[in-house]
Amino acid sequence: MRIGPYLLPSTVVLAPMAGVTDRPFRILCRSFGAGLAASEMITSDTRLWNTSKSRRRMDHEGEPEPRVVQLAGADPQALAEAARANVALGAQIIDLNMGCPAKKVCGKLCGSALLTDEALVARILESVVNAVDVPVTLKIRTGWDRTRRNGVNIACIAANSGIAALAVHGRTRADFYAGAAEYETIRDIKAQVHIPVFANGDIDTPQKAREVLDFTGADGVMIGRASHGAPWIFRAVNAHLAARNATPTLLRAEVRDIILAHLDSLYVFYGEETGVRIARKHLGWYCEQLLDRPAQARGDLLGAQSTAAQFAHAVQHFEAWVSEAAAAA
Ligand SMILES: Cc1cc2nc3c(=O)[nH]c(=O)nc-3n(C[C@H](O)[C@H](O)[C@H](O)COP(=O)(O)O)c2cc1C
Repeated sequence: MRIGPYLLPSTVVLAPMAGVTDRPFRILCRSFGAGLAASEMITSDTRLWNTSKSRRRMDHEGEPEPRVVQLAGADPQALAEAARANVALGAQIIDLNMGCPAKKVCGKLCGSALLTDEALVARILESVVNAVDVPVTLKIRTGWDRTRRNGVNIACIAANSGIAALAVHGRTRADFYAGAAEYETIRDIKAQVHIPVFANGDIDTPQKAREVLDFTGADGVMIGRASHGAPWIFRAVNAHLAARNATPTLLRAEVRDIILAHLDSLYVFYGEETGVRIARKHLGWYCEQLLDRPAQARGDLLGAQSTAAQFAHAVQHFEAWVSEAAAAA
């Protein structure tokens, strides 16, 4: 798949997730074959950029191309300026967030709330597309609620505005994350527009990715929560979609090394205090994904107050997990 000048190495991409898709996690998922990995969303309100949190969100050092920055906002001019500023800082694709359901975001008519105002959507897309000479992509839900599922209209507006690719989460804003994602609207969207479409929502296995692609006709899939504690999912999905023989399962020793390297990269990126805190979330997911009895390890890893203590616990517990398998063999 091509987005502007960029030929993607894979059509399986990482979903933008605030609090998760920081630079270390993006690099990790890309190393397992995610075709794209957008940044956590950045507000278009430049007055809020002078915080370490915002600065980290705009940091792409060492990230493979193309570097995607997601922006959230509602003012066409502000979004255009924010897009320009991020391109100057190294963004190679600008992604616009019209999918976030959070009250904090929707209250200000951002994220998925924008779907209720199609004229404003058109103004925003036109403004941002005209402001930058890099591809602009869009992420949406299927509508505000089930009585106002206007995803097809929005997709047509996007295609007519010069949006280079569209990702669609198969839920309305009112659904939040409840129930199962539906793919009919994504199929309808794909039938109407000729820009690349990524299907998103509840894709958690290689088989599900294949089914969703077949059902919707989408060009690619976007995976969010199924990557938590399992950044290697992209490798498995890519292999399945390419109908290659199943990729060999990672050895436990390899997984341990990946986790420890991930921890290291978080500590370097965030520093001592924030590093321990952010790593807890990922360690909790790794424990849930991998360990038969995660409680003891979780307690130690989530309770550790320094990077050194947390890292030592990680070595101990994941080393034990590697040895368990060796003893059983
Ligand atoms: C913790 C978390 C944070 C998220 N943050 C964003 C965000 O900043 N921008 C966005 O467009 N979507 C965001 N999303 C939505 C995801 O990109 C994705 O659409 C959603 O999780 C459904 O995909 P999944 O079922 O594969 O997880 C977030 C989701 C989660 C779970």
